[in-house]
Amino acid sequence: MTATNVAFDPKELEAKVKAMYRSVAEDPHGEFHFEMGRALAERLGYSPADLDRIPAEAIESFAGVGYYFHLAAIEPNETVVDLGSGSGMDTFIAALKVGPGGKVIGVDMTDEQRAKAERLRDRDGFRNVSYVKGYIEEAPLPDGVADVVISNGVINLATDKGKVFREAARLLKSGGRFAISDIVTASPADRGDGPAAGGAGGQSAVSVHLRQRERRRHEIRREEHLAARRQTLTRCARLHQSSVHGPKTAPPARRRVSREMG
Ligand SMILES: C[S@@+](CC[C@H](N)C(=O)[O-])C[C@H]1O[C@@H](n2cnc3c(N)ncnc32)[C@H](O)[C@@H]1O
Repeated sequence: MTATNVAFDPKELEAKVKAMYRSVAEDPHGEFHFEMGRALAERLGYSPADLDRIPAEAIESFAGVGYYFHLAAIEPNETVVDLGSGSGMDTFIAALKVGPGGKVIGVDMTDEQRAKAERLRDRDGFRNVSYVKGYIEEAPLPDGVADVVISNGVINLATDKGKVFREAARLLKSGGRFAISDIVTASPADRGDGPAAGGAGGQSAVSVHLRQRERRRHEIRREEHLAARRQTLTRCARLHQSSVHGPKTAPPARRRVSREMG
């Protein structure tokens, strides 16, 4: 396998990620390259009984990739920080587990995601949940605030993954737990860690996705081109056949028509 260095601009990438998750919040039934919603959540392992107790609109915009609450083992009265809380589905599930004596804090950089989560929280009375605007690489929260840090499908979007893990460690109390679901690649991917990426290392799932989509478009154009070429060659071969065999061999379409006409 060959590796190609692809330069990318972290600011441009952030703008793309924000635009995508703005749509996830505002138009969850639009077209996305990933699955969302209740069927996905149930398939991943969320209990229908828990899902019935949280806002349905948060579930519609759920864009996580796995289930980790059994690993997180959240207890009543604990404080949980959700890195990349989106429209809030996991914060509401965590709120059920910490109960009224606990606290859940969601961190997200996309205004529309936080606005939706806040609206649903206020409507349905989840008083133990709050949201802060910020990056998961630099959460605007004090050291040692959390018993548990959770994150679902977000770290793959970060350009500096090491920074996110260090931030999770900073946010955790001594002996705290860190439970995440995320996407990894089993084979070496072409990395965007050239000078243009500021040596940040790694690449985001969005940049991989955009490149894969471009590659697929190219393949489709090539397949269409080959199909058109095959058709032309078939037509040429038919013409050649009829000119070699003379007018006795009528083209198949005409024969069928004359048979139908009796
Ligand atoms: C795949 S969604 C997951 C949301 C939520 N965990 C869920 O399961 O539905 C990614 C979310 O992470 C947020 N996000 C991505 N990169 C971020 C970053 N570097 N800092 C803060 N939020 C980020 C996006 O705004 C989006 O809401």
